[in-house]
Amino acid sequence: MYTRRLFQSRQGCAQLGAFSGLQTVVGDSSLYGLCLQSRYFSGEDSKKRGGSLIKKLEQEQVVAVMGGQWGDEGKGKLVDILGGNYDIIARCAGGSNAGHTVVVEGKKYAFHLMPSGILHQTNTCLIGNGVVLHIPTLFRELDSLDKQGIKYEGRIKLSDRAHVVFDFHQEVDALQEEDAKKGASDKSIGTTKKGIGPAYASKINRIGIRVGDLRFPETLEAKIANLANYYKKIYPALNVDPKAEAEKYIEWGKKIDHMIVDSVDYINRAYDAGKKIMIEGANATMLDIDFGTWPYVTSSNASIGGAITGLGIAPNKIDGVIGIMKAYTTRVGAGPFPTELTNEIGDKMRAVGHEYGTTTGRPRRCGWLDTVAMRYTHKINNFATLNLTKLDVLSDLDEIKIGVAYKHNGKVLDSYPSSLEVLNNITVEYETFPGWKSDISKIRFLEELPAACLKYVERVEELVGCPIGWVGVGPGREAMAVRKPE
Ligand code: GDP
Ligand code: IMO
Ligand code: MG
Repeated sequence: MYTRRLFQSRQGCAQLGAFSGLQTVVGDSSLYGLCLQSRYFSGEDSKKRGGSLIKKLEQEQVVAVMGGQWGDEGKGKLVDILGGNYDIIARCAGGSNAGHTVVVEGKKYAFHLMPSGILHQTNTCLIGNGVVLHIPTLFRELDSLDKQGIKYEGRIKLSDRAHVVFDFHQEVDALQEEDAKKGASDKSIGTTKKGIGPAYASKINRIGIRVGDLRFPETLEAKIANLANYYKKIYPALNVDPKAEAEKYIEWGKKIDHMIVDSVDYINRAYDAGKKIMIEGANATMLDIDFGTWPYVTSSNASIGGAITGLGIAPNKIDGVIGIMKAYTTRVGAGPFPTELTNEIGDKMRAVGHEYGTTTGRPRRCGWLDTVAMRYTHKINNFATLNLTKLDVLSDLDEIKIGVAYKHNGKVLDSYPSSLEVLNNITVEYETFPGWKSDISKIRFLEELPAACLKYVERVEELVGCPIGWVGVGPGREAMAVRKPE
């Protein structure tokens, strides 16, 4: 029996609670997230009102986990922690550009296409229609699961409506990036070169191939030829043999046939049967094709809208959105980064936080927390509660800054700028906090963080206007400080 839809009203925002899934990880503690009806509230307010307003989030049927910055916030870790509490973990967007890391008992797992709940061995992992699927990468991930002894037979479902990423999409991605580097200024995006942009472009151009097409061998070659010809006109040197490709994909289609489902029917039937569903976002809101720092974005809706279009689940079936935000900011690839630190503090964040891409190994650009961007992504996703991750990475700093406002031509901006011309000419206003200079990695309750650290967390809650329910204090599954139950 599921009581309400957090999406339906601001009122509903107050109705949060505990995930018992977490109890398997942190003993008898539960998460209590706090949420108030006003956009801005004080940490004190959130504590006072918490007792009467909190309901157990564990009772929610459908919850989405979305990145609130420029990616790599630690989505995979929370999905893994909570994943045992859900029947279905569903990826809704992106492709193998994502790299979600999970660390269990010192062992590191990196997922690109596979939902991060796979380790629980009890749930079903769905790759939704909004995902673009590179089949060789899927096979590599399955191999790796085999090697690690993770049982997945019967547990992985692939949407028949998901589009296929071909190797030539990846080649086109690289060629586009090379072209963009030519000329007076480098206009390359710094993509992961996983073929994401070209694959979504093929989908929008209505010439792409879908996973379900692999079930119809007699028409596949012609479809591939049509798609390849489109790209060959732009890049004549591109070497694609449609017949050979079709033969390969027909074989691969047979290998994955047992996993292919009508995912829209699958997820909605599961919903009707009362199954609990966790939606795993990939990439992040500041990389969203509509809302991100365009054109320095990925090619899908990496915010809550992508959960709906990427799974065929109606908005009022989603009970709440959990926002994942790092305690500082990182970004991989090119594009605006107003709070970036190109100095020794940024270098220290990179070294301590191991800020190197999970997918490409590239060093991540690092900087202070940007609450202007966070307020903006909260507006788009209406987060019920946040997981502030990697707070431990800041533990050694003497002082810590938070970006609180953007100024352009001497005026504070009241919304997130859409154009590069503005973004490239803003100055950031900061608040400065003393560091806590102590190890927080063993702390399991948010209230037990050192005073200076708690002050930082509560100021972030105020500035973003959203409660923080979890604080990441280390990479491991167990390294999470949660709000104490009242
Ligand atoms: P995702 O793409 O959002 O799932 O994030 P990534 O896995 O790409 O990047 C997050 C990185 O930080 C991974 O290496 C995680 O193991 C690590 N991580 C996650 N949470 C924490 C945390 O609270 N503290 C520390 N030190 N590392 C964390
Ligand atoms: P997760 O899910 C960080 C970035 C790329 C590049 C831009 C476009 O691990 O958080 P693309 O290959 O998607 O065309 O690249 O988007 N990007 C990510 N950055 N984490 C990700 O995913 C990303 N997915 C894409 O670095 O700047
Ligand atoms: Mg990542």
